[in-house]
Amino acid sequence: MNMKKLVLTGAAGRLGSYLREPLTKLCEELVSSDIVDDLGTLYSGESYQKADLASYDEVSALLEGADMVVHFGAVGDEAPFDQILNANIVGAYNVWEAAYQHKLKRVVYASSIHAVGMHSKHDYIDTKVPHRPDTYYGLAKCFAEDLGSLYWDKRGMESVCMRILSCAQVTSPRALGSWLSYDDLILLVQQAINTPTTGFAVVYGVSDNDRVTVDNSAASFLGFKPKDNAEQFAQSILAEAPAADTNDPAQMRQGGPFAVVPLGNSGLATMDIVDDTKNT
Ligand SMILES: NC(=O)c1ccc[n+]([C@@H]2O[C@H](COP(=O)([O-])OP(=O)(O)OC[C@H]3O[C@@H](n4cnc5c(N)ncnc54)[C@H](O)[C@@H]3O)[C@@H](O)[C@H]2O)c1
Repeated sequence: MNMKKLVLTGAAGRLGSYLREPLTKLCEELVSSDIVDDLGTLYSGESYQKADLASYDEVSALLEGADMVVHFGAVGDEAPFDQILNANIVGAYNVWEAAYQHKLKRVVYASSIHAVGMHSKHDYIDTKVPHRPDTYYGLAKCFAEDLGSLYWDKRGMESVCMRILSCAQVTSPRALGSWLSYDDLILLVQQAINTPTTGFAVVYGVSDNDRVTVDNSAASFLGFKPKDNAEQFAQSILAEAPAADTNDPAQMRQGGPFAVVPLGNSGLATMDIVDDTKNT
């Protein structure tokens, strides 16, 4: 599908930095957006438009004339509720409402495993399990997914909610099951855009890991076939890791460390996330 105008929010973020270039190949004009003043060097076919997701007027101006929006902008961690409320909850409403008003075909959304993070890893959850957030951050992902469901049921606007597990370098035993490589992230977003009809869809964003803890079979119509497998890191990660503790919710819940972090406190601060944001 070749679109005229595609919008990417969260373009200055780590995941956005990997998506910008491939997304320019799917449209005549990629409008990258974030709250930062500028994005530095732009790719061919890309322009930059600053917008605060918490401002309906700015989001509406951003989406005018667009065919689809790939919505990655957010506070990407657990945080005090007012921060989550503005960027992630009001921000999500603004994106879906402006998308509807400007007649976009679809919102492709970066949801998260933290929408269902209190489910046990033993349950091998599918995409139809009830929401069970582990943080305010996860609660906001539930809200946005429900917006997607509501706007499909009431207004016929499509959404693909990609519940990303962990899209970052593999630095822990948990990530052997939860890793989504950057190449597989790009494949997933391409499928979410290119599938002709999606309605309201939920899919887990995870690579083809031997130790995967979620079941994507109900989303197979999206044709997402991840190519990477975190097992290549297992030997070195497990050699360094403490013994597994089946009484530790941070190890046994889908949300990992987010399942135990106090509400409002950073979950990422307790994880070993490598900032390998891609430079233009
Ligand atoms: N990294 C992961 O493993 C992971 C897992 C699950 C879901 N996600 C989701 O993917 C998306 C991107 O994650 P990331 O790791 O690249 O995070 P990130 O923090 O690097 O990027 C998020 C971007 O959103 C922007 N932003 C924040 N508030 C904004 C506002 N009010 N207006 C406009 N822009 C604003 C930030 O400036 C930042 O550039 C987020 O929605 C996150 O919740 C990421």
